[in-house]
Amino acid sequence: MSNQKQKKRKKSYFAGECAIVTGASSGIGKEISRILVRDFGMMVFGVSRNLEKLERIKAEIESENPFGGSFVPYALDVTDIESIFDLRSHINTHCLNLRLVISNAGQMLPITEFSRENEVQEKGMTNTNLIGAMNMARVFIPDLRHSPVKVGFVFVGSIAGIVPVPGCAAYSASKAGVKNFAESVIAENKKRKLYIGHMMPGMTNTNLFAKSGQDLPDWVRKYMTSASKMAEMIVNKARKRKKRCVLGADAKIMRMCYRLNPSGFPRLMRRVLEKAGIYH
Ligand SMILES: NC(=O)c1ccc[n+]([C@@H]2O[C@H](COP(=O)([O-])OP(=O)(O)OC[C@H]3O[C@@H](n4cnc5c(N)ncnc54)[C@H](OP(=O)(O)O)[C@@H]3O)[C@@H](O)[C@H]2O)c1
Repeated sequence: MSNQKQKKRKKSYFAGECAIVTGASSGIGKEISRILVRDFGMMVFGVSRNLEKLERIKAEIESENPFGGSFVPYALDVTDIESIFDLRSHINTHCLNLRLVISNAGQMLPITEFSRENEVQEKGMTNTNLIGAMNMARVFIPDLRHSPVKVGFVFVGSIAGIVPVPGCAAYSASKAGVKNFAESVIAENKKRKLYIGHMMPGMTNTNLFAKSGQDLPDWVRKYMTSASKMAEMIVNKARKRKKRCVLGADAKIMRMCYRLNPSGFPRLMRRVLEKAGIYH
């Protein structure tokens, strides 16, 4: 990292303080945690349901830690609001200065038409993507909005929240919910020290698809943004307190095409996904 970049990072409003990142056990959340610990010297509470995975990630992340940051594994399910309140109590009891919350935990389903989706998985996904994000906001935004210093809360949504994606109807709906929730909360918290951001990543090379039971072919993965690059973009936007950000070239192209042709673009998307052998 250049000296100038290092200086900028040290001066950022959250450097050296405490952060929470949900979905920290893999993909984008893991990479965001790594950047906050390594480059900003933060104490990051890394949240996911799997403590073992988080413990392994702690060792990995803390092995490259020039500014004294740390990664604290914290297992909880974001659909369970009581356990999020416990995390808040833990942070308050230890008088930690919480400066940044990244609500990133998410799930996806295999790409297929809505009538073929599994209803139980669909509820689990919607609960995580939408209710989980609302739970995080419910627990942490009331404290953050009274902060006398600059603080931030970031929702990780998806381009699928602003562009309908055939084959991902329920996922797309859950992320559209995050979009409208985030936009409403942004408007409710104007002119406070609290910054609220809504990030809309495009296709990112993580295990999100494989975990849904449907992996993507290698040639598709080649065109996806890497998790570390996506995490860099999210952290930089949060540092600059940018409110709504479409991230990745594919996401920007999708938004533009949808604006130009709102009814034709989803049909075209479906044909592309079918041709690519991804839509079943
Ligand atoms: N990858 C993409 O192309 C893409 C594109 C746009 C937006 N996004 C969004 O980016 C975010 C991160 O996704 P990713 O691609 O990094 O996926 P990922 O690698 O599968 O990571 C998802 C993370 O969320 C955690 N998680 C899932 N359900 C949870 C729950 N109920 N409670 C707590 N933690 C939970 C997972 O850990 P455990 O399973 O251990 O709990 C994991 O750490 C998601 O919100 C996703 O929708 C991804």
